[in-house]
Amino acid sequence: MDPQSASAQSDPSGSRTAMPAGSPQGLPAWQDLALEGVSVTFNSGRAGEYRALSDTSLKVSRGEFYCLLGPSGCGKTTVLNLIAGFARPTSGAVRIGERPIVAAGTDRVVVFQDATNALFPWLRARENVEFGLSIQGVPKREASARALRYLDLVGLRDHAHKFPYELSGGMKQRCQLARALVLEPEVLLMDEPFAALDAISKRIMQKELLRIWRQLRMTIVYITHDVGESVLLGQRVAVMRRGPASSIKEEFSVDCPYPRKPTDEVVTDIYARVEASLQDEVGVSLYAA
Ligand SMILES: Nc1ncnc2c1ncn2[C@@H]1O[C@H](COP(=O)(O)OP(=O)(O)OP(=O)(O)O)[C@@H](O)[C@H]1O
Ligand SMILES: [Mg+2]
Repeated sequence: MDPQSASAQSDPSGSRTAMPAGSPQGLPAWQDLALEGVSVTFNSGRAGEYRALSDTSLKVSRGEFYCLLGPSGCGKTTVLNLIAGFARPTSGAVRIGERPIVAAGTDRVVVFQDATNALFPWLRARENVEFGLSIQGVPKREASARALRYLDLVGLRDHAHKFPYELSGGMKQRCQLARALVLEPEVLLMDEPFAALDAISKRIMQKELLRIWRQLRMTIVYITHDVGESVLLGQRVAVMRRGPASSIKEEFSVDCPYPRKPTDEVVTDIYARVEASLQDEVGVSLYAA
């Protein structure tokens, strides 16, 4: 089924009705997430001054799955940090709808590549997921019930009692995902979330993520180095220029229903175009002997 026609069958939040992407019906407050003419200079006016981003603009629709690719060090995490509110632009604007992003908030949650360091080692999986809710002042009994619903959603209910050291790499990543989702964010920001997993675990997690996204319909900004992953997951794939002074070079729409196969014609065609675009930025031929 194409996500455009996906509907919420068993929304674990019990409070949010999933909507088709891009539908204006029932979508209050904001329609898109945008960077407008954003520049970021680190150590401005000091030794080590570095212009990471220059006049970068992008727009992600509400409920869209947007993938970001680019050479190492080009500024992908910097873009994510701006959206998360962990960093402020030197110039330009970052906003959700009409609302400027000026600080971190639970409407935007980040899932990092390194789940081991992201989880609290002294808390059980269930307590890790409950943690953000307790900070929000959600009563213990409700936090517990919500945590279990999201652990169930990511397939970890039977492992809720385990400490992070008792979880496999893939299970830790599921736990981190549940911890993010339990806050019911409008925007899920994912920074190479499955890069450390083995090939099969990665494919399973990609499939799970698509299932959850189609159920909950949050906006996803997903950073990856893996061209294949980007075209299997994203509705749009953006390639960034190499730095310094990076920006979005090109965007590709992946007009192909889910679930996609690496061998689907649309997928292979866009794969080749994205890879060529990326290769120009990396400056090294991936195929020449
Ligand atoms: N706090 C900082 N202070 C100074 N320079 C920084 C800071 N954060 C990032 N940079 C620089 O900005 C550039 C972009 O960094 P960023 O982490 O966004 O890259 P990236 O595209 O996420 O790379 P990777 O794919 O390797 O994760 C790099 O040159 C980096 O050295
Ligand atoms: Mg990065």
